[in-house]
Amino acid sequence: MTYLIGNWKSNHSLRSALEFLEELKQLETADSYANQKIISVIAPPAVFLTEMQAKINNLNLNLTLAVQDLSAEAAGAHTGQIGTSNLAELGIKYALVGHSETRLECGQTHEAIAHKVDQALQAGLRPVLCIDEPYLEEQAKFIPMEQRTKCLVAFEPLSAIGTGKPFSPSDVKPVVAKIKELFGAVVPVLYGGSVNPDNIGQYTAICDGALVGSASLTAKSFYQLAKNG
Ligand code: PGA
Repeated sequence: MTYLIGNWKSNHSLRSALEFLEELKQLETADSYANQKIISVIAPPAVFLTEMQAKINNLNLNLTLAVQDLSAEAAGAHTGQIGTSNLAELGIKYALVGHSETRLECGQTHEAIAHKVDQALQAGLRPVLCIDEPYLEEQAKFIPMEQRTKCLVAFEPLSAIGTGKPFSPSDVKPVVAKIKELFGAVVPVLYGGSVNPDNIGQYTAICDGALVGSASLTAKSFYQLAKNG
């Protein structure tokens, strides 16, 4: 299977998020083509999760939701954090952890990110561990092997995120191999960084999917990513 994970970051309003889902449904209905091997996931701002999930159920859309980050700690005195117990009944299946923007903007350490992986797994959420090459080994050290094999890993080179300058597939390939060595051959590895509908096929040919930021924001572009992925 191939994963397409759209990371909306702090974009969209609730209204535009729900309109996105309606438009996605229309695009699917109007088109006889369906890419059966794609698992489509969107990580919207957490405040939209409940209403988006209700809309997805209502429209019978083949789309799963993810949270963009979660607390490294169990429920308790952690103002502003999203704990796994807060997510329990929302129907989401994945949790992004360690995105470079949260690592940098929130000062998250490798150790804290390993705790987030642990929290996600304890709650039955599949962690999508975002990672860049320079700290691959350092990050992996904090995650026990039996937990590593349960992750999805997204290789996200910093210079490629939001810049329109993706890593070339030939540069991505050896890093994918290195991640599989460190995390286990069964672990799906995604590439992220300036992926768009025109180049996604080059990445899904060499790894297990793509994590997409700006090109996942409109239904039309997301649908095209799913088609071409
Ligand atoms: P981008 O973002 O697709 O806009 O480069 C990727 C990401 O941040 O995951």
